[in-house]
Amino acid sequence: MERVVQCLAAKASLTGKRILVTAGPTREYIDQLRFISNPSSGKMGYALAQEAQKRGAEVTLISGPTNLSPPNGVHFIGVDTAQTMYKAAAKYFKANDALIMTAAVADYTSAKQIKGKLKKGPQELSLSLVPTTDILTQVSRNKGNKLLIGFAAEVEQLLDNAKQKLKRKNLDLIIANDVSQPGVGFEVDTNAITIIDKAGQIEEYPLMSKQRAAQIILDKIAYIWEQKNAG
Ligand code: CTP
Repeated sequence: MERVVQCLAAKASLTGKRILVTAGPTREYIDQLRFISNPSSGKMGYALAQEAQKRGAEVTLISGPTNLSPPNGVHFIGVDTAQTMYKAAAKYFKANDALIMTAAVADYTSAKQIKGKLKKGPQELSLSLVPTTDILTQVSRNKGNKLLIGFAAEVEQLLDNAKQKLKRKNLDLIIANDVSQPGVGFEVDTNAITIIDKAGQIEEYPLMSKQRAAQIILDKIAYIWEQKNAG
């Protein structure tokens, strides 16, 4: 297995490509006022959407609730729950050449949808959770010639866990992040990415802005398309 540490400087064009990006957290409602979520800021996904648009791609961004403004020139679809994100991703996947899943999708949602407001009482309260749909796994069933790119946020065994996800979800690339490292993770402007491809090649990059990380990821995607065309 090859392991490369490198910093690409290229800025490949994505003209003519249609790219679907998901970003941000999802909200899984307990009642009409409370939800389970995570602190995903959406910054990595928005940076990818903006950079892909600047390079000539037609970009659709499906986003959970964030504080960011949709990038100019990007088709924006706002969602909240994992289910609404799944519905939108499945719908738009058909018309796109690649799906980049940066969204921090909740793995579980409340088994019961409580109408109105859950009232407090003195007794212990248990919440029953059921798994959400795994969006990447589902859409990969209609993958065809499209590229599927996932992210793996890990706190241990970064490479092993990411490689397993790449295989399990039938991905072309997975971007692994060790979110236990300073400057990496949900709310920061920087990221340290490790890109793993289907052939098992691993590219490790130092800490950099999410904007720069987006450029490197898109260069890699453009390179895969180039190789496919050449072959
Ligand atoms: N993902 C998805 N649908 C879900 C959950 C995650 O498509 N319901 C995607 C994420 O957007 C990401 C990739 O799957 O691109 C990996 O997500 P991650 O949370 O790291 O992995 P999980 O499969 O949820 O496994 P675990 O939480 O056990 O690490």
